[in-house]
Amino acid sequence: MTTNETSPNGTLTKDSSPEDNTPIVELRDTGKSYGNIRALHGVNLAVRSGQVTCVLGDNGAGKSTLIKIISGLHQHTEGELLVDGSPVHFGTPREALDAGIATVYQDLATVPLMPVWRNFFLGSEMTKGPWPVRRLDIEKMKQTADAELRNMGIVLDDLDQPIGTLSGGQRQSVAIARAVYFGARVLILDEPTAALGVKQSGVVLKYIAAARDKGLGVIFITHNPHHAYMVGDHFSVLRLGTMELSAARSEVSLEELTNHMAGGAELAALKHELAQVRGVDVEELPEAEDLQAPVATTPEGTKP
Ligand SMILES: Nc1ncnc2c1ncn2[C@@H]1O[C@H](COP(=O)(O)OP(=O)(O)OP(=O)(O)O)[C@@H](O)[C@H]1O
Ligand SMILES: [Mg+2]
Repeated sequence: MTTNETSPNGTLTKDSSPEDNTPIVELRDTGKSYGNIRALHGVNLAVRSGQVTCVLGDNGAGKSTLIKIISGLHQHTEGELLVDGSPVHFGTPREALDAGIATVYQDLATVPLMPVWRNFFLGSEMTKGPWPVRRLDIEKMKQTADAELRNMGIVLDDLDQPIGTLSGGQRQSVAIARAVYFGARVLILDEPTAALGVKQSGVVLKYIAAARDKGLGVIFITHNPHHAYMVGDHFSVLRLGTMELSAARSEVSLEELTNHMAGGAELAALKHELAQVRGVDVEELPEAEDLQAPVATTPEGTKP
């Protein structure tokens, strides 16, 4: 693993001074047990300004556990969590947020029937007037939300529309713009493209790149090696709670990343198992080396 690679947008180069290169967030041999279940063990990860760090892994690999540690929801039980080079233990998500670490969860924690601008300021509303007659500064919030969304290249027709009427990709984009506006230094996105189609995923990837270009360190959690490779500077693959791969972009190709995700040996075992099932033509299944992405096959000719 290199610690000083060049990002495609050129924010970090080999000539960067050492202090520029201190990761904003770093995990060193970090682990987490829930009682006697060890969900994560020996994880090393560095998040730097202007870079996208992708965390990949199958269901149950430990991705959510990893981001819960960084976002202050859970505490690690092994190793260290460092922010700006100093070890920390976040007691609450608020402490992580105060350190500039913002997390966008998959359910987005928005109120679907409230307007876009209202969701943009949810929990941090702008007010005006002296106490005790302070009231919401609706005009200012609308103007600011509009300016900030445009600043990220997000143009919505009407900020008064309920956020629930936006597409999944647009909602993710608003959440990203919100984190940028509220001064996040690290943005954690938990599978932001998982429920989206190709075009919508592209939209979200574009705003991930926009956040990176604004100097944020982005942690992008995904199952999809293609999405990861489109924006990633560094790739970490988790398997059963440990880190199976940690590589800079220059050290790994999309094909290698896909194979790590698909698990060549597991695919061979699955093929062997499926060969016992009537109606499944295993010859139709891809070889590990041809594999583009995890494939779900519907066996033809099998009728209930
Ligand atoms: N609160 C908890 N108590 C006990 N075990 C847990 C808890 N949270 C997670 N685990 C276990 O830790 C392991 C990793 O879970 P985690 O949710 O981090 O995986 P993941 O990679 O996010 O999976 P997915 O892709 O399904 O979201 C799993 O075996 C899970 O059952
Ligand atoms: Mg998860």
